[in-house]
Amino acid sequence: MDRFVKNFIIASIVYLALSTVLGIAMLHQPQLLSFKFVHSHLNMLGWVSMMIYGVGYHILPKFAGKFLKSPKLGELQFWLANASLIVLLLFYSMNVLSPLSSYMLIATLAGVVHAISIGIFFYNMLATLLPAAPPPQR
Ligand code: HEM
Ligand code: HEM
Repeated sequence: MDRFVKNFIIASIVYLALSTVLGIAMLHQPQLLSFKFVHSHLNMLGWVSMMIYGVGYHILPKFAGKFLKSPKLGELQFWLANASLIVLLLFYSMNVLSPLSSYMLIATLAGVVHAISIGIFFYNMLATLLPAAPPPQR
C-alpha cells in the first residue's frame, strides 16, 4: 500500500472522530449549530471523500489491471486536500467567532485549493482508467 493511500485512510478516520465530537457537542449545546458547516464538511470532505480517495487509489487501478498513472500526484493531492481542508475549516470557524471579511477570503482561497486537489484526483484516475489496456503477452 502506498504511503499516501495509508495517510488518506488515517486522516479520514481522524476527521470522523473530530466531526463526531462536534456533532454531539451541537446536540448538547444548540448555539454550536453555527459550526454545522464545519461538522458537515469534516464529514463530507474529510471522512467520506478521504476514505474514497484512499480506497479508490488503491483498488480502482487493480480492478482495471493497471498501475496508477502518477503516485507523485496522489501524494501531492493528499497534502493539498488536507492542508486546504484544515485552513478552510479553521478560518470559517474564526469568522463564526469574530466575523472578518479577510477570514472568509482565506477560507474561500482554501476552498479553491481544495477544488484543485479534487481536479488532481479526477485527472489521475481518468488518466489511469481510460487508456486501453495493452494486449496480453504470449
Ligand atoms: C455521532 C455522530 C453524529 C452526530 C451526533 C451528528 C450530529 C449532527 C447535528 C446535531 C447536526 C445539525 C442538525 C441541524 O441542523 O439541526 C448535523 C448535521 C449534519 N451532519 Fe451530522 N452527526 C453525526 C455524524 C455524521 C456523519 C457520519 C455524517 C456524514 C457521513 C454527517 C453529516 C451531516 C451533514 C451533511 C449535516 C448537515 C445537514 C443539513 O444541513 O441539513 N453527520 N449532524
Ligand atoms: C471545495 C469544496 C467545498 C466547498 C468550498 C463547499 C462549501 C459549502 C458552503 C459555502 C456551503 C453553505 C454553508 C452554509 O449554508 O453556511 C455548503 C453546504 C453544504 N455542502 Fe459543501 N462545499 C464543498 C464540497 C462539498 C462536498 C464534496 C460535499 C458532499 C460530498 C458537500 C456537502 C455539503 C452539504 C451537505 C451542505 C449543506 C449542509 C451545511 O450547510 O453545512 N460540500 N458547502
